Amino acid sequence: MPSTRSLPKLAEAAKDCRGCDLYKTATQTVFGEGRRDAALVLVGEQPGDAEDKAGEPFVGPAGHVLDDLLEKAKIPRSSVYVTNAVKHFKWTPRGKRRMHSRPLAGEIVACSPWLSAELAAVRADVVVCLGSTAAQSLFGGTFRLMASFGEVLTHEDRQVIVTYHPSAILRMPTHEAREEARGQLVRDLARAWKLAGGK
Ligand code: URA
Repeated sequence: MPSTRSLPKLAEAAKDCRGCDLYKTATQTVFGEGRRDAALVLVGEQPGDAEDKAGEPFVGPAGHVLDDLLEKAKIPRSSVYVTNAVKHFKWTPRGKRRMHSRPLAGEIVACSPWLSAELAAVRADVVVCLGSTAAQSLFGGTFRLMASFGEVLTHEDRQVIVTYHPSAILRMPTHEAREEARGQLVRDLARAWKLAGGK
């Protein structure tokens, strides 16, 4: 961790992170992106294949879903800070493809100082956890998404809304289920934006 904890210094230092073994198989660290004065922080799980190559969070298929949800919730992406609980892509090979693999509790914990430092640097009052990995990073490994779904939780002095991960929508089996989850996510994002005083 650098002694000066501005976002650019943190991002630079995170490039050399060896806090767990995921750096060995990932292309690069994918740090958060957005404004230092963002009122709202969105936390995902970990970069995917596209993000690992681009070096930016939420630019692949999950990012396209997120962009669509943000637009529906009338939130400019440029007004939020977007990051992940884990900063390296974890994958297993399947043929020529690199398949997403869920981070272990120890990997989430190893990466959590970066997320804490980002939250301290951005100083947003409201955080949205997109899925259980993000929530477990803030609230611990025993956190269960469905038990607190839709509630406004408190983490340190911030309000936190825990909701679906955008990729969960892509995996839902029926059109109805996907539409229902999409609507829920848009409502949760809009609620967070309102709590954050966004206009
Ligand atoms: N999924 C995430 O959780 N984060 C990304 O950046 C991309 C996909």
